[in-house]
Amino acid sequence: MDIQRPRGTADLLPEALGLWSAFERVALREFERANYREIRTPLFEHTELFVRGVGDTTDIVEKEMYSFQDRGGRSLTLRPEGTAGVVRAYVENKRYGRADIDKLYYLGPMFRYERPQSGRSRQFHQYGCEVFGAEAPELDAEVIALSYRILSEFGLTGLTVEVNSVGCDVCRPQHKAAMLRLVQPHAEEFCGDCQRRMERNPLRMFDCKHETCQRLLTELQVPRISDVLCADCREHLEAVLHHTALLGIPCERNPNLVRGLDYYTRTAWEVTVAGHSTVSGGGRYNSLVAELGGPETPGIGFAGGVERAVQLAIDQSLTAGEDERLDVYVVTADQTATDQATSLVDTLRRAGFMADRDFQRRSVKSQVKSADRQHARWMAVLGETELASGTVTVKDMDSGEQEIWPFLEVAERMQERRTKQEGEGK
Ligand code: HAM
Repeated sequence: MDIQRPRGTADLLPEALGLWSAFERVALREFERANYREIRTPLFEHTELFVRGVGDTTDIVEKEMYSFQDRGGRSLTLRPEGTAGVVRAYVENKRYGRADIDKLYYLGPMFRYERPQSGRSRQFHQYGCEVFGAEAPELDAEVIALSYRILSEFGLTGLTVEVNSVGCDVCRPQHKAAMLRLVQPHAEEFCGDCQRRMERNPLRMFDCKHETCQRLLTELQVPRISDVLCADCREHLEAVLHHTALLGIPCERNPNLVRGLDYYTRTAWEVTVAGHSTVSGGGRYNSLVAELGGPETPGIGFAGGVERAVQLAIDQSLTAGEDERLDVYVVTADQTATDQATSLVDTLRRAGFMADRDFQRRSVKSQVKSADRQHARWMAVLGETELASGTVTVKDMDSGEQEIWPFLEVAERMQERRTKQEGEGK
């Protein structure tokens, strides 16, 4: 075939989706237990939203956006992350006038033009949440705990949460000035990206992948933001760590953690497993709602990559459990039984059974093989004798027992059997 999927995308085939569904079920369950409600925002937004929201010095905005002009000449971008869109929707739908805080979660595809490699694709899926309207550190702890628990409840082990504070409007400008005094005289020695970051957001220099830049930062004894936090930020971080300890979350301080997005204030964290790429990350963003046109409203959230969680599960040999079994396979001896097969399959499905039949007009032998391959619990045979007597031969595929039931009673009798088997714990 000459047309292939675009680089950095994947076909998610039914066989692989067992683990995906298992993971998504855990994520939704944990979000809902904590009283979060789902939000779905568009897959594309005005490019300006991400430039302003995510930040124009971030790798995402500088290098990784899928931007295009639509037929009306507007610049649109496939969403590279979920936060900016959720904040826009929060502001646009005026959700800020509420007495209670707004707890929202989401799950869906994101797009970044990155060099595809293990754990990095161009279309990937995030699960995440955003909470608006509270500044208290116990909320940070709840969101950190959620980001950890979704992964641990899924069965992953070896998880660590690295936590830092990236400061606020009070300590960040002071840190920025102190940084610039030290790095500007050496501007030429830093990479091009860092020279740009120096002007707009020097804190991001700590996130540079170039060894030379990191070495220079150490040599010049550039203070890390965590070394110069204001008293309120320090107190906030201590309180967050106190609450995560109460919740039994294995948090470690990482004074070097700055994260790759511009909107964070105070708490920032990542959930990692040694030797693997970061599974999820998040942080507080107390200025973003106002920056995107809403009233001053504190926010906090995180997002994780479904592909990365599933890959970890595979590496740790977790399984999705047994595939769902087909309940009934309806076998027809020949074409004369087609009408009965149509109505029997429909009756069974309406009664709540997973039922299927042959559509390729194959021999009885091939149909029986299909029933076997799909691990059907029962096989319901409609042959000449059955048609003549208004009955169906029902075979229990586990025990091999076979009985003849009146056609009109099949669903009811199967239900009785199922209730009985469930009672026996089968
Ligand atoms: P992020 O760290 O850019 O944060 O992405 C979160 C997670 O998405 C990563 O930890 C990773 O699992 C996954 N991810 C990112 N890029 C890729 C990729 N190219 N391929 C596969 N997986 C990827 C955010 O996006 C923020 N919006 C998180 C947040 C929400 N902060 C506050 N609220």
